[in-house]
Amino acid sequence: MIPDSFKRDLLNRIDIVEIIQRHMQLKKAGANFSACCPFHNEKSPSFTVSPSKQFYHCFGCGAHGDAIGFLMEYSGLGYIEALKELAAGAGMTLPEFEPRFGGKKEETGPDLYELMQRAMQYYREQLKASPQAIEYLKRRGLSGQIAAHFGIGYAPEGWQNLQAVFSDYADKSLKEVGLVIENDAGKRYDRFRDRIMFPIINQRGFVIGFGGRVLGAGEPKYLNSPETPLFEKGRELYGLPQARLAIRDAGRVLVVEGYMDVVALAQHGVGYAVATLGTATTPVHVQKLLRQADEIVFSFDGDAAGRKAAWHALEVSLPATLDNKTIRFLFLPEGEDPDSYVRTRGKAAFEELAGRAEPLSSYLLGQLRARVDTNTAEGRSRLVHEAKPLLKSVAAPGLQLQLLKQVADISGMTQPEVERLCELRRDAPSQGAWQRPAPPKVTRAAVKSFELRLLECVLVKPALASELSADIIRGENPEALALLALADYAHGNPDAGSEVMLIDHFRGSPHETLLKQVRSELMVLALSPEQAEGEFRDALPRLERQRVHEQLNELQRKNKTGALDAADIALMYALTKRLATLDQPPGANRPVV
Ligand code: UTP
Ligand code: MN
Repeated sequence: MIPDSFKRDLLNRIDIVEIIQRHMQLKKAGANFSACCPFHNEKSPSFTVSPSKQFYHCFGCGAHGDAIGFLMEYSGLGYIEALKELAAGAGMTLPEFEPRFGGKKEETGPDLYELMQRAMQYYREQLKASPQAIEYLKRRGLSGQIAAHFGIGYAPEGWQNLQAVFSDYADKSLKEVGLVIENDAGKRYDRFRDRIMFPIINQRGFVIGFGGRVLGAGEPKYLNSPETPLFEKGRELYGLPQARLAIRDAGRVLVVEGYMDVVALAQHGVGYAVATLGTATTPVHVQKLLRQADEIVFSFDGDAAGRKAAWHALEVSLPATLDNKTIRFLFLPEGEDPDSYVRTRGKAAFEELAGRAEPLSSYLLGQLRARVDTNTAEGRSRLVHEAKPLLKSVAAPGLQLQLLKQVADISGMTQPEVERLCELRRDAPSQGAWQRPAPPKVTRAAVKSFELRLLECVLVKPALASELSADIIRGENPEALALLALADYAHGNPDAGSEVMLIDHFRGSPHETLLKQVRSELMVLALSPEQAEGEFRDALPRLERQRVHEQLNELQRKNKTGALDAADIALMYALTKRLATLDQPPGANRPVV
């Protein structure tokens, strides 16, 4: 923890006006400063910075905060990162947190950034001078404006062009940032030659690397900067600073695979896309993106490689999940990437597709289901086995519970059984810092027993009662007993009549109070007969499944203590078979997209 006193000292030492001015221009307006808000699109300035209060506030979108908040919001930094950045500028060191690199990087850092900046400028100038590079970009549908927005340039043919840019071509820094390569004989040459250059810019606006594409055919198609003190691929995303505003406006960030996808999407008005840099998605990526948007949509090509990458993205996302954020997966038709899709079909079609991206939960469960045969006990057990590491790593408590319930449902086990198998139980009291907050109090509706649900349905549509049987309704609880009584009545009176008649019939019986209670709840619920029937058909097989499991467990217990007799074995077969049918409820194979 960073002590509050440190934060206070830090905020006292710095000036918010100066901090914000490092990133954007402010105009003096009376006692305050103003500008067009960096957090939403506007034409007249409603963003105000108060030097006396050391606060910023936007009258347009309501964004406000102190210098720390500004850096977090503007640069997408985490709290600690923002503190670090401010502390470094104020000559203070964060207590407990040592810088990740030694002093060396601090010393050479700014110079290295400066080299990269000059290289980008050079490549941009060279693009203007190269008709064939311009022609290439035009052919790919890019305007000059978009090329400028992304700082796209061109590295000309030739081995040592950068000699003209940097007075000391032998400087070790040029090699350190990956702009030049040294061969075994100690001879140096430019890394990027005859390639379209995509600068990779970090959230603070510094150029940290490049991706270079060949103009025609040739290998490799993309050549990237190596990992350098400035550039760690697993932490960076291409296009993030350019997409920041659009991400904020859309509340969504789209993660694609390629440089060209990002640029082409922006060209067509989808500005909130970023790309991983030829690497698999990392937890750092996910955390970074979740800080900036409420929704991440991962887009992958529809081929085998894309599907593999998607599953990997899912795995690294689970520990970063939050119940107030959504992660979804978009699979493009085979042979398409976002660039080709948006180019041929346009923005609306692309966004329509993105809007239908599959939620993480359904993608996860669909994949698990597809891997096993849920018609066999082995398959269902294996499903739970495979779900275990995934369920365990889900950080969002609500999502974890939802997935747990669904895994229980698919595997035909009860929730506590799956919890135990997956070692998810956290019922031992603990003071550990890792302990999750208590789950929110569940409402009555969420814990309604199947019996109670069935009872509601039958009161709304009495004819349903004839479908109930003592095989399914086995409990001893008041709801179960009432259901059995209703079923009995319905079997004897095929046209069971109305709710009023039912209540009337059971007047004076032990079920009267319960039925009246349920009826008054129904006034609030306002369940229609159609809904009641739907709920009934949904709940009944679930209840039966629960019963079958209980019976099977019973038989298993019996098997451990003594031998099963022929009747038991026959029952076991029958139950197992019944379970298999129940596991195929109508609609279970409904496509998820
Ligand atoms: P793709 O091969 O899918 O290319 O690589 P693309 O994005 O469709 O590119 P265009 O449309 O042909 O220009 C996707 C990403 O994988 C990395 C790059 O980051 C690229 O954007 N990649 C690919 C490399 O780093 N090197 C390569 O040789 C190829
Ligand atoms: Mn492409």
